[in-house]
Amino acid sequence: MSQNVLVTGAGKGVGLGFNLVKRYLELGDTVVATIRRRSEDLEQLKEQYGDRLIVLTMDIGVTASVETAARELEQKLDHLDLVINNAVSVSPDCDKGFFDADLDLIAHTVDVIAVGSMRVVKAFYGLLMKSGGTALVINISSEAGSISRCYRTNLLDYGMAKAAMNMATMNLANTFKEDGKINIFCVHPGWIRTDGRADNPAPLSSYEAACILQELFEKRREDREGHRFITNENEDYPF
Ligand SMILES: NC(=O)c1ccc[n+]([C@@H]2O[C@H](COP(=O)([O-])OP(=O)(O)OC[C@H]3O[C@@H](n4cnc5c(N)ncnc54)[C@H](OP(=O)(O)O)[C@@H]3O)[C@@H](O)[C@H]2O)c1
Repeated sequence: MSQNVLVTGAGKGVGLGFNLVKRYLELGDTVVATIRRRSEDLEQLKEQYGDRLIVLTMDIGVTASVETAARELEQKLDHLDLVINNAVSVSPDCDKGFFDADLDLIAHTVDVIAVGSMRVVKAFYGLLMKSGGTALVINISSEAGSISRCYRTNLLDYGMAKAAMNMATMNLANTFKEDGKINIFCVHPGWIRTDGRADNPAPLSSYEAACILQELFEKRREDREGHRFITNENEDYPF
């Protein structure tokens, strides 16, 4: 059965978000792609899929922007079945170690990745609650957000932000248990060539990753008891 899906940070043709949008459109779903700036890649998809693709402008770092986008969508769709928090932003010091990184840049990354995904869930909660079945929230996390498996000395802002996103996922899983309507996971999506570079050694193209993830999300939609942090290979990952 077709569903209504929202994917954040979906404007970049080589990125995971865009390829998730493409995959769900191929499957016959109605897809809301959120962007911050004009995307020619999405404009091309729009020519192909017409009304089944809705493009919304939304900065997940700004509460008013997310709330405005939600109100706009409420005029166009009566429910959402799946929200995928894919958008990501890292500081220019992401690859630097603790002593060289400007620590004041960390807060913005945490705000966009962790708080931003919660802004999205809060603003679109009303539409998720109107889903005919179990609505699903997927937070695209990363193995870099695992505290117990941390081995790096770089990616401080990104790791902190994804760990915070994972905590938010657990908190919301507890919150949503009460109404039994919305399920939620955080997912390490695999190692993906999201930069489009031919020499990127990552094993998965963004499209391949999107196809794998789409199947995974449906496998897990009704699973309320299992571990909340999972990988693209449908394995539990330690928080
Ligand atoms: N690539 C991998 O191997 C890998 C591994 C683990 C996890 N992941 C995760 O997979 C997801 C997708 O990765 P990716 O490399 O495809 O991401 P990306 O292209 O770097 O970023 C995704 C999108 O996020 C948008 N964005 C940034 N800040 C935003 C904001 N404040 N509000 C709304 N949108 C914003 C960007 O839009 P703009 O064009 O407007 O900047 C961009 O199009 C991310 O969550 C990433 O952490 C990837």
